[in-house]
Amino acid sequence: QAQDNTFKIGLILPMTGQQASTGRQVEAAAKLYMAQHGDTVAGKKVQLIVKDDTGLPDVAKRLAQELVVNDKVNVLAGFGLTPIALAVAPIATQSKTPAITMAAATSAITQASPYMLRSSFTLPQAAVAMGDWAPKNGIKSVVTLVADYGPGNDAEKFFAERFELNGGKVIEKLRVPLRNPDFAPFLQKVRDAKPDALFVFVPSGAGAAVMKQFLERGMDKAGIKMIGTGDVTDDDQLNDMGDGALGVVTSHHYSTAHPSAMNKKFVADFEAANKNMRPNFMAVGGYDGMRIIYEALKTTKGQGGGDALLAAMKGQVFESPRGPVLIDAQTRDITQDIYLRKVEKKDGQLWNIEFDVIKAVKDPGKSK
Ligand code: DHB
Repeated sequence: QAQDNTFKIGLILPMTGQQASTGRQVEAAAKLYMAQHGDTVAGKKVQLIVKDDTGLPDVAKRLAQELVVNDKVNVLAGFGLTPIALAVAPIATQSKTPAITMAAATSAITQASPYMLRSSFTLPQAAVAMGDWAPKNGIKSVVTLVADYGPGNDAEKFFAERFELNGGKVIEKLRVPLRNPDFAPFLQKVRDAKPDALFVFVPSGAGAAVMKQFLERGMDKAGIKMIGTGDVTDDDQLNDMGDGALGVVTSHHYSTAHPSAMNKKFVADFEAANKNMRPNFMAVGGYDGMRIIYEALKTTKGQGGGDALLAAMKGQVFESPRGPVLIDAQTRDITQDIYLRKVEKKDGQLWNIEFDVIKAVKDPGKSK
């Protein structure tokens, strides 16, 4: 691995293309962590090598190979989309390089390599909380609308199972393509079906388009509520969605408005370093991923290679800007609090305001 006194982190992110906001958020947060904590850890100089995968798995795989073979990175990290994380996983295994999923959120990602850990979240974690909340709050019938790939399929399955277990009825399950989705024909179907609510999962960056078309079709006025995991009321876009977003309830692991002292400092420092940008749930995944790497490097003092580093990453317990978290040593996945939040206006801005919490949620996708 990295010669001499450098410790190299290969950060593979979508810096261009449809998921560019994820790349921007994770990179900014990783750099903030380094600015706050210094770039020398256990006598090693930490070097961040950022590569643009353009959102394509084949590109990510080639970049991961080059980072391992040519740059001799000590850790791989980033992964803005599930197919990217899955493309990199075999390279992590072959080269015994710890890999941290900071953004992607399909349950199965951490099972794709024994070297894969996660600092983001899983869709089952977030979706089950909504499956409990909705039927207790007057929502008895739902149409689900999800992006048709790993995280969308997880969200649909785990929301629907829990919602129906609680006596709710899923009238229809709609799936939209990940690439260049046109939501209009799907939303027309939802309008015709007249459910109490529409449950939405779309990846970070796509929420504003769904919200716009939802409102343009007058769905809210027709009495159809919008609910979902917090990806749809993404803090990166929320302020541009307008007052039509007010009242939307979602379940998620992070809100920019989370009222802890640690989060207030995180948000203030992030905004000071990045003009006109609010840290979203992708940023917190990048920030905490860096924490996991820094602490593992301190524990191992840079000795022992990938296996020692991996061992020091497993089982970490710490306070994140999102709240308390644990990297489960068995699953290498993140256990964390999941919040119910409602979009509200405060000081002229829109926020996801937390009003309830389910403590220490493990990924429900691993329990079967
Ligand atoms: C994934 C991507 C997202 O932007 C998101 O909000 C959730 C999950 C993913 O590809 O896993």
